[in-house]
Amino acid sequence: MRRTLVAGNWKMHGTLAENEALLTAILAGIGDAKAQVAVCAPYPYLAQIQGKLTGTALAWGAQNLSQYGKGAYTGEVSASMLNDFGCKYVIVGHSERRALYGESDELVAEKYAAAQAAGLTPILCVGETLAEREGNVTEQVVGRQIDAVLNKCGVSSLAKAVIAYEPVWAIGTGVTASPEQAQAVHAFIRGKIRALDSAVADSLIIQYGGSVKAANAAVLFSQPDIDGGLIGGAALNAEEFLAICKVG
Ligand code: PGA
Repeated sequence: MRRTLVAGNWKMHGTLAENEALLTAILAGIGDAKAQVAVCAPYPYLAQIQGKLTGTALAWGAQNLSQYGKGAYTGEVSASMLNDFGCKYVIVGHSERRALYGESDELVAEKYAAAQAAGLTPILCVGETLAEREGNVTEQVVGRQIDAVLNKCGVSSLAKAVIAYEPVWAIGTGVTASPEQAQAVHAFIRGKIRALDSAVADSLIIQYGGSVKAANAAVLFSQPDIDGGLIGGAALNAEEFLAICKVG
């Protein structure tokens, strides 16, 4: 049986006080979670989160990193800095980074490589836009996004990574992919990896992301190739997030 991972992506939300309240409530209810659980927070709060979550069942991570190790890169944050704050995970290639900050497949692959070189587990986000889905190129797009990482780091790198399939049209829109739509893309991803390395394919965690809520998590996570979720809006509400963690 593959493990499942439910990761909260807080995006640019939170304050010290809100984080304290949210994490306190999550910790109080996390005992019987079926999934492994993590929260991915904005950089300035990683120290707070490390202080609060060290020694608990909750892991944590960041939402982005630099592809560079150190140097004159004003405003950037390196993988080793994330290590200093105990991060286990880092999201790379989120569709908001790709769309709003121009991150290319190649740049995302460099960030993935930098994360792994520092011992972090990258959560590699892939997914098509609505126009791409309607143009029947979902598999080409997702395949191309994954190929960039395979070309740079090889299939064996996926033994220490997570893939999150997040259709862009489902992120933050309230429109969730149907279980069948999501499963079809997850099966495509796993099949693509299986053609290269069946052991890696069998153990790879492939999360679904895009308007996951307590009300739809069970049917999504019961699909054979969906191994938990990357949760945006619902991760900011402890009750909702805990209900999702208990499904997975
Ligand atoms: P959402 O975001 O759950 O709010 O749709 C998911 C994500 O962007 O990771």
